[in-house]
Amino acid sequence: MWKSLWKSAEWAFEGYAKYAKDDRPFIIETLDRGPVVVLPPGQMKTVYKLPEERLDIFRTLNEVIQSRYTTRDYRAIHDPFHRHIIPSQLTRELDSFTTPLVTELAAGFESLWGTELDWREIPLWKACFGVVARVTNRSLCGVPLCRDENYLNLLQDQSASVFGGAILINSVPSFIKPFMGQLVRWWCSYYSRKVDKICIPYIEKRIYETTDITAKAGNDTEKDGLQLIIDETLSRGDPSLLDAKLISDRLLVTNNASVHSVTLTVHNLVMDLATSDPSMGYVEALREECREAFNSAGGVWTLNAVRKLKLVDSAIRESMRICPFGSVTMARTVMDPSGIEIKYGDSKVNLPRGTTVALPMEAIHFDEGIYPNAHRFDPFRFANLEKPATLTDDQFLGFGSSKSPCPGRFLAVHQMKLIMAHMLLNYDIDYTGKRPELTSLVGMKVPRTDIVVRVRRRVHQK
Ligand code: HEM
Repeated sequence: MWKSLWKSAEWAFEGYAKYAKDDRPFIIETLDRGPVVVLPPGQMKTVYKLPEERLDIFRTLNEVIQSRYTTRDYRAIHDPFHRHIIPSQLTRELDSFTTPLVTELAAGFESLWGTELDWREIPLWKACFGVVARVTNRSLCGVPLCRDENYLNLLQDQSASVFGGAILINSVPSFIKPFMGQLVRWWCSYYSRKVDKICIPYIEKRIYETTDITAKAGNDTEKDGLQLIIDETLSRGDPSLLDAKLISDRLLVTNNASVHSVTLTVHNLVMDLATSDPSMGYVEALREECREAFNSAGGVWTLNAVRKLKLVDSAIRESMRICPFGSVTMARTVMDPSGIEIKYGDSKVNLPRGTTVALPMEAIHFDEGIYPNAHRFDPFRFANLEKPATLTDDQFLGFGSSKSPCPGRFLAVHQMKLIMAHMLLNYDIDYTGKRPELTSLVGMKVPRTDIVVRVRRRVHQK
């Protein structure tokens, strides 16, 4: 079980090669969840489509992220309406949000990636996180909060406390978890309180502007995530929910679901491109596509112009395939008192209540039978296959399983395409080292935050 801390990825590959091909599940030991039944891809659809009361997702997700310790107000976990309202509503508003997002990302790039025409070194993780946090918060809480550097820096520390804290709790045996959980709770609350100091006056002002009839007259605020939370809270008619700290926690949970994963994906894609053989011409082809789409839209990014970025879309999907965020993921718990039946080759087995099942994401993404030359980063692999980055299927789990895919994937991919297009059109990137391997820990991939790349501003060519 201890070994599972760093061996899960290796075991999942081994089990997949030995059993999964014959439609047989296998078990790996884990420190955080005990024995986990890893399903072969052939059974994913039938098992994962079981109703929630038979196979739980929500409580299991909360256990993976240890929300009872990492989220301050339990109401943000027990009544998490923000989870779906925000991504689904913002997805409908992608067109109107495009110009504001571009304004923020351009300013974010200028301050973090620089404007010098000479080469300079930047810490890549920080430079990506800063841009992503600013862009994401433009649609989550608007101006001026999304431009507040103290707030954006705190988000980075706060997300480190949540994800680092969850990994710490998951890495210790059950009897130590409450103790470790308490330490992590202090760590996370410390940052939540610091975020409060900046956010609360802003949230209270917005509540006032929404509820006060005189303030409302001049209020033309766009429906960002904060406004959606306030409107939904008001419609529930319970004044205790209009607590600015609770609203701040709902915003933080949404930030944690989005900023970290978008940063990880952008960071990986930049590294994939920077370490590809320049003679393959990947960067040039992507840049050319961006230039054409941008110019044909009259030099302004619109939803339609972004939709034309088929090569960039394919590169995002390919990078998510080759750098999955975990090796054994999408954990679910059997809730049915009589268990659930799964196939084991030609026979069947019953998984009793309480069993954890999961998917061998990394092994599937590296299956040569599905992806020829699976270890090679081929950014245009999906370009002619009509498989956009947002499509989840049995062979690509970057945004989850098709039964309950990530509700924020359209927003995430739209943002990532805008960020990549801006970067390609405005910057050259130079990296001389080898593609750094990601570290596997508790079945997840830990991002490399120590990478430094050289960048320089490009003179814009029409
Ligand atoms: C590249 C960026 C992203 C990646 C790779 C990603 C990945 C995922 C995955 C794999 C899941 C499913 C987990 C499971 O089934 O066990 C998920 C769920 C979720 N994601 Fe994302 N996500 C991203 C961006 C976002 C964004 C931008 C938002 C919100 C604005 C978001 C909100 C959520 C929520 C609320 C869930 C939980 C869904 C549920 O309750 O069923 N994600 N995400």
